[in-house]
Amino acid sequence: MILLSRTGTGERSLMIRPHDLTTFPLPIIRRAAPADIAAIVAIENESFIDPWEQSVFLEAFTYFPSTYFVAVCDGMVTGFVIGGLEDTGENIYGHICNLGVTTAYRHRGIGNLLVRRFEHQAALELATGVQLEVRLGNTVAQRFYHRLGYRNVFEIESYYSNGEDAVVMMKWFRF
Ligand SMILES: CC(C)(COP(=O)(O)OP(=O)(O)OC[C@H]1O[C@@H](n2cnc3c(N)ncnc32)[C@H](O)[C@@H]1OP(=O)(O)O)[C@@H](O)C(=O)NCCC(=O)NCCS
Repeated sequence: MILLSRTGTGERSLMIRPHDLTTFPLPIIRRAAPADIAAIVAIENESFIDPWEQSVFLEAFTYFPSTYFVAVCDGMVTGFVIGGLEDTGENIYGHICNLGVTTAYRHRGIGNLLVRRFEHQAALELATGVQLEVRLGNTVAQRFYHRLGYRNVFEIESYYSNGEDAVVMMKWFRF
C-alpha cells in the first residue's frame, strides 16, 4: 500500500513503507489461541536445540494473555512471539521470552512485525523498554535484534542448559 503524506511545507509527497518493496503479502499478526499450539510447537522444534515443551506454550496463555502473538500467512501460523511485562518497582519493561519463524517463511519481515507488535503492546501497558536474552552463538538473531534497535547490555555466563552464555539485549523506547 502506498500512503500519501504531507511534507512540512504542506506539499503532498509519496511515502513508501519498507514492506511495499517486498514481493510477499503482509502476514496477519493476531493474539495466539489454543488452536495454534500444534503449529507453534512445530516452529519451536525446528528453530531451537532445546525446544520448550508443549505444556509451557499452553501455560503461556495464562501468564501472558495480552503479549502472545502469532503471524498467519497463507492461512498458516508461520511465526510466534511470547513475552511478558516485568515491574522492577522503578520501571516496567517488556521481556521477550520466545520468538520463532518457520524456516520457509524467514527473511520476509515476519519476525520484525512480531517483535514490533510485542513492543507496541508493551508500550500500551506502560513499559519503557524491552529486554531479551539470546544465545551468544546465535549471531543471526543478534543481528536481527540489533537492526530493530536492541543493544547488548551484558552477558550471563552458562545461562543455557548446555552451558552456553546468554547475551542480554535491551531497547529503550523513545516517545
Ligand atoms: C530470528 C528470527 C525470528 C527472524 O525471523 P525473520 O522472519 O526471518 O525476520 P525478518 O524477516 O524480519 O528479518 C530477518 C532478515 O531478513 C531480512 N529481510 C526482511 N524482509 C526481507 C525481504 N523481503 N527480502 C529479503 N530480506 C528480508 C531482514 O532485513 C533481516 O536481515 P538481518 O537479520 O540481517 O537484520 C528467525 O531467524 C528465527 O526464527 N530464528 C530461529 C529462532 C531464534 O533464533 N529466535 C530468536 C531467539 S532469541
